[in-house]
Formats: sequence, C-alpha cells, structure tokens
Amino acid sequence: DFKGESEILELPEHTKGLGQPVAARGYGSPSQFEQNLQRRESPGLTRVSAASVSFAPLQALFGIITPNGLHFERHHQGWWDIDPSKHRLMVMGMVKQPKVYTMDDLMRLPSVSRMHFIECGANTGMEWGNVAVPTVQYTHGMLSCCEYTGVLLSTLLDDCGFDRKNGKFILAEGADGSSMTRTISMDRALDDVMVAWAMNGEMLRPENGYPIRLVAPGLQGVSWVKWLRRIEVGDQPWATKDETLHYVDLMPDGVHRQYSSIQECKSVITTPSGGQTILDKGFHNVTGLAWSGRGRIKRVDVSFDGGRNWRTARLENPEMPKCLRRFNIDWVWNGAPAILQSRAIDETGYVQPKINQLRAVRGSRSIYHNNAIQSWKVAETGEVSNVQVY
Ligand code: MTE
Repeated sequence: DFKGESEILELPEHTKGLGQPVAARGYGSPSQFEQNLQRRESPGLTRVSAASVSFAPLQALFGIITPNGLHFERHHQGWWDIDPSKHRLMVMGMVKQPKVYTMDDLMRLPSVSRMHFIECGANTGMEWGNVAVPTVQYTHGMLSCCEYTGVLLSTLLDDCGFDRKNGKFILAEGADGSSMTRTISMDRALDDVMVAWAMNGEMLRPENGYPIRLVAPGLQGVSWVKWLRRIEVGDQPWATKDETLHYVDLMPDGVHRQYSSIQECKSVITTPSGGQTILDKGFHNVTGLAWSGRGRIKRVDVSFDGGRNWRTARLENPEMPKCLRRFNIDWVWNGAPAILQSRAIDETGYVQPKINQLRAVRGSRSIYHNNAIQSWKVAETGEVSNVQVY
C-alpha cells in the first residue's frame, strides 16, 4: 500500500476534466516543465553574440537526433531569415554551363535524406590547456545530429558539366556578412556532400542556414556553409581567410596545420556528466554519444576507474556512417569516488586518444580538433565534475 502518497491516491484535475483542443498550438512546443532545456551561450567566450556560439544541451537529449530548436549555433556575423523566393545559388568556375538556381529549381531535382552529425572544429577547444568549463553542454555541445534532405552536390556539378579532369576543388560561399568561404576537395565533394534545405523533416531553421546550407558529412562544422549562395569549381585550394587565419592548428614547432578538416573519432558520456548529482548508490544507466568523421562507430569502452579497466558498452542502432551513435552501459555505484571515461573506436580501427597522447603530438596551444577522452569525476557526495586524467 502507498501510505500518504497523495500523488497516486488522489485524482488530479486532468483525470476528471476536458483537456485542451487540437491545434491549440498550430506549431507545437515543449511542455512548460521543460523550460530549462535551452541552448546556451558560454559567458565571456566571445565579445558579441552575433559572432558567437550557442551550445546544445547534450546532458538532456535522448537517442541521437537533435531537436531543431536545440541545434547548436555558430555564426561569424549573426543569422538572417532569408526570403527563399529571393535566394539564389550560383554554380560557376570550371564548368561548361554556369547556372543560377532558384529554390524551386533545386527542389525539383532528385533528393536524398541522410542522417549525419555536425561538430564545430572548435568543440572541446577550451579544454586544450586544462579543465575550463563545468558541463558537457559547454565541453561538447558544439555537436548536433539531424536527418538532412537535399540534393547531392555531385548532381548539381553534373548538371553544370563540371571539368572532370582539372576541377580538383570546390569553394562554397555563404550569403551572410562574414562571406564564409571554404575549400573542399573534389573527391569529398562528389562523395556525400549535399546542398540541403531540410533538417528533421522540416525546412532548415534560419539559425542553421535557411533556405539552404551545405552538408559536408565528417568535415568540421565550418565547411557546412550556411545560407549557401555560391559554389565555384577550381583546380587548387583558395586559401581564403577562413582556411588560413582561422580553423588552423598551431603545432608545437610553431607551424600552422591547415585543412585538417575531418572530425576524428570521439565520444563523451552525457549522463552522468559534469554539474549533475547521482541520486544514490546502486544501479545507474550510464549513457553517451560516439561519432567519427571517417565512418561508422565499431566499439565504445567505458571505464569507471580513470582508465585502468575498461568494459564494452552496448551500442544502439541504427549504425550509420558519420552519424552519432548512442551507447549505454550498466553501472552499480558503490558510493566510492569514481572517474568515468568513454573511448570510441571507429571502423578504420582508430582509437580515441587520451589528452596526454593528443598533447604529445599537438602541444597545448591549439584551439581546434580536440577529440580527447573526457573524464568525469564522481565524488562521494554523488556530485559529478569535469577533471583531466593524464
Ligand atoms: N556559414 C556561414 N555562412 N556563416 C557562418 O558563420 N559558421 C560555420 C558553419 N557555416 C558559418 C557558416 C561554423 S564555424 C559552424 S561550426 C557551422 O556553420 C555551425 O552550424 P550551425 O549554426 O547550424 O550549428
């Protein structure tokens, strides 16, 4: 018998009355009890919010799909809600027939729908030197995963008769004030790059490039040019500001590494994670996300003792290339301090490195491409915090 539990013994209003009508909200929104679920800007990270980033709340998401309203944002010069009837995409350069496409022109072409992750090259960048931010939202939240619908770039390039012999690269340019421009090699462009107008079954959100953006699976987020207005075919990389001044890796010998565009295999435990408190001793489901810009995730190991011993986690389906993969593992917490880590392995056999392994090659003056193993410390009180284990 449930002594004194009024929540189960007494019938609340909603079991006795008439609920709200259909279409009371023509476009639905989350429950009023979920208001804390927000993408957030890291205080003090950037000087102006138009050239900033908002992080996705990974600690509160389930499965692998990021809801459209919680997709992380990264803008170099603010976002725009562009009128699709006025938007155009130009394909030019080393092509037989340069073309200017309207949205109608694009959307009558053969389309594909594919699920992929997008990760900013700067994700986890604040952690290169030492522990910097408290929660998984800020350590790993420049990460999202959607089903994208659009036309393959190869279809557009064929439509314009691109120079198959000498066209070795494409340049993608955005229609915002930052004139975001990125070079992508032709073999990648022809592989799985798309010009997408939809995410998760509806048109892109303005923040994410409405009405069209480039989807460049496996490549760092900066190559996913939003508000896409121009594709140029050329025979060499353009070395624009976004690939020479920015998104380069400062190596220990002082040399800048350029065009290290692929997001290498990485994973993180999302629950329990920094800022959370474990309720009690006993059983807990430990869960997280794994991904690789080179293909499928093959295995995720989890350690509860800072990397001394590892157990293999359960990988959830679907298994798709360049897409997030959810993992789960059982854990019985005995109340003693613990350090939780996850380590992902992709189909190429690449193993996610420890932070000291990464620093040995990369030094600690980088910003981009930190795919190190993340450690969460569980204190006796159950409080979870961000730590680094060498
Ligand atoms: N495209 C344009 N036109 N302008 C931008 O500022 N930011 C880039 C990329 N595409 C950017 C852009 C960066 S750095 C990233 S990480 C991704 O968009 C972020 O995409 P999202 O805002 O949809 O998460």
